[in-house]
Amino acid sequence: MTDIRIVPAADFGGACLEALQEAGARSRSITVGLPTGSTPIALYAEMASVAAAGNLDISGWRPFAIDEYGGARLHPCSNRRFFERHWESISGAPEVEQFDPEAPDLEAEARRMREAIDAAGGLDIALLGIGLNGHVAFNEPGSAAGSTVRRVDLSEASRESARACWGDETPAWGLTLGLRELFSAETVIIMAHGAAKADIVARAIDGPETVHVPASLSRRSARAIWVLDEAAASRLKR
Ligand code: GLP
Repeated sequence: MTDIRIVPAADFGGACLEALQEAGARSRSITVGLPTGSTPIALYAEMASVAAAGNLDISGWRPFAIDEYGGARLHPCSNRRFFERHWESISGAPEVEQFDPEAPDLEAEARRMREAIDAAGGLDIALLGIGLNGHVAFNEPGSAAGSTVRRVDLSEASRESARACWGDETPAWGLTLGLRELFSAETVIIMAHGAAKADIVARAIDGPETVHVPASLSRRSARAIWVLDEAAASRLKR
């Protein structure tokens, strides 16, 4: 089942939080995959302000980072640093389980994350952004629906986006949860804002279901919620 929610840009963070709370209402101790990037910043800021007012308690959540760059663990552009800035400012936010890109054995590191998620019973919620090429986490176009946690080479498009922060140190690879972990979540929430995402959002929702647009495979999930601002939704058929 796919649910598409379109809101004015000013309401984007609030609408993302509403979808998240709805999906997580079942239990206090949900497992949730968390994205980085520009898209979730409004959501995390909204969570920080609602939690500060005492109206949000996520202390029982078990959060997992959905991906990480293959660079220095404490590089200012790493996802680990992103969570320090944007997630840890939410009052009561539990620590995010992170990838270690400096682990000596990356296969073992991927296995560690896979086993941690499996042991938690899988993800209840996969909260996702979408890349300009349709990637989710670092599952680049061509990723198999059954792909699992692994090291991946980044596409040129992803490296180009990353260059804005990483500059000359832009990583060539990353670590990511696979489409298997993400799209087998009980609820998949994909967020997109801004006109730059309008084309890829339309391809993912209205185009064919294809590995060339990994986000289009979310249609196979039990429940997928798209939260879009009006600009990101502007090329949809409906
Ligand atoms: C990045 C990340 C994704 C993220 C996406 C969109 O490369 N690997 O997890 O969702 O691209 O980023 P943004 O929200 O900045 O557009």
